Amino acid sequence: MLSLSGKKYSNMGKTKQAKILIVDDDPEVLESVTSLVAGSGFSVTSCTTAKDALSLIQIEDFDSVLSDIQMRDISGIELLEKLKTINAEIPVILFTGHAEIDFAINAIKKGAFDFVTKPFNPAYLIESIKKAVKYHDLIIMEKNYTFKLEDDVKKKSAELEATIEILKSEIAERRKAEESLRKAKNEIELWNKELEKRVEDKTEELRKSQSQLVQSEKLSAMGEMAGGLAHELNSPLAGLLPMLEKYRDLSKKDAEEYKELSLMLKACNYMAKIVKAFVDFSGESKGVLTTLNINDVIEDTLSFSLSKFKKNGIQIVKEYAEDIPVIQGEKTELQQVILNMITNAGDALPDYGRLIIKTGSSEDRKSVFTAFIDNGPGIDEKNIDRIFDPFFTTKRPGDGIGLGLSVSYKIIEKHGGHIEAKSELGKGAKLTIFLPC
Ligand SMILES: Nc1ncnc2c1ncn2[C@@H]1O[C@H](COP(=O)(O)OP(=O)(O)O)[C@@H](O)[C@H]1O
Ligand SMILES: [Mg+2]
Repeated sequence: MLSLSGKKYSNMGKTKQAKILIVDDDPEVLESVTSLVAGSGFSVTSCTTAKDALSLIQIEDFDSVLSDIQMRDISGIELLEKLKTINAEIPVILFTGHAEIDFAINAIKKGAFDFVTKPFNPAYLIESIKKAVKYHDLIIMEKNYTFKLEDDVKKKSAELEATIEILKSEIAERRKAEESLRKAKNEIELWNKELEKRVEDKTEELRKSQSQLVQSEKLSAMGEMAGGLAHELNSPLAGLLPMLEKYRDLSKKDAEEYKELSLMLKACNYMAKIVKAFVDFSGESKGVLTTLNINDVIEDTLSFSLSKFKKNGIQIVKEYAEDIPVIQGEKTELQQVILNMITNAGDALPDYGRLIIKTGSSEDRKSVFTAFIDNGPGIDEKNIDRIFDPFFTTKRPGDGIGLGLSVSYKIIEKHGGHIEAKSELGKGAKLTIFLPC
């Protein structure tokens, strides 16, 4: 097979000097045809056997082959077939006598380009050769063109593949960048949330300490007033009480004045009780700090107040933390606070209600808490900020003075702690005392 590129260059200018191979075992015919074809401007190579023709065609690049249809070694048809296996593009023109017309038709069927009958019509023969050369040129041109096209397609495909590779790596890099951007965004979001939470916590802390400050300001102002008032009322009451008692005892028990004086005495005793609460509220405590276990303080307080609960069928559930850190405090004052918490729960609870007393400590064991959790009616939302105010009470006159929680607040504050109240109307109340250790 001839290489395409060799063909391409050797083909240049071929129409002027086309190469023709002529095969005929009759030397006379061969000579006359050769001189006719060469005389028409073609470059001619001639041989007398099919074998020679096949060798020549393998080393030279012919534009057309002219061959006799009937030769001694092999027939022209056989030669045609063999030529086609070596070079399928080469156009073959066969010579034929009149009697061999059937062979000629067969030859065309097998792929001969043309056939020329003997004796030759020279003009027809040359014309046929020219057509064959032109046909060969076109085929070669088409081949070269296809080759170039294939080459171009290959080059373009390679370029395209390289571009695709670059694009792929660009996409991968962009994905990576997007991924790290997404991660960074997530981190920022987390930080933002954390920051928001911290701001919320701090705001809540601030709000609490602010309201505690307001509460203690209120209490100290009230304390001064109450102290002065108690002082003023204490001396007339101290004089009045024994006098009333004396006159009541002088009157007859069934007399009207005995009853009236008894009522007066009762009223004065009630006033004396309030004055005492005022004094407790305003007075500086003189007690000493001792090391206390809050569980023991609660137990001691319960020992003298349990009877009231028993009477009403109220259940007390104790949930004391076992290994609770000790605190420094004034026992009687803390008992007063606990008693007030228990009494308030007892007042609020219906018969057969339940009060849980729970103690525990913070994780760092730097503070202890005591929670009083009841399942009573709870505290109205609008009152929850007022329950620590002095004289705030929802109880009937005579049942409550409204000083219990304010006094408790003061005591706990003095111990360096605080009280928290949580409640929902209808769902019980939870009052918690926090004390430092
Ligand atoms: N456990 C509780 N359940 C419902 N309300 C309560 C509870 N503890 C306190 N309170 C409310 O707080 C108010 C103030 O209590 P306190 O200061 O002890 O005064 P008092 O007991 O004299 O009313 C009570 O009148 C009541 O309305
Ligand atoms: Mg009370």
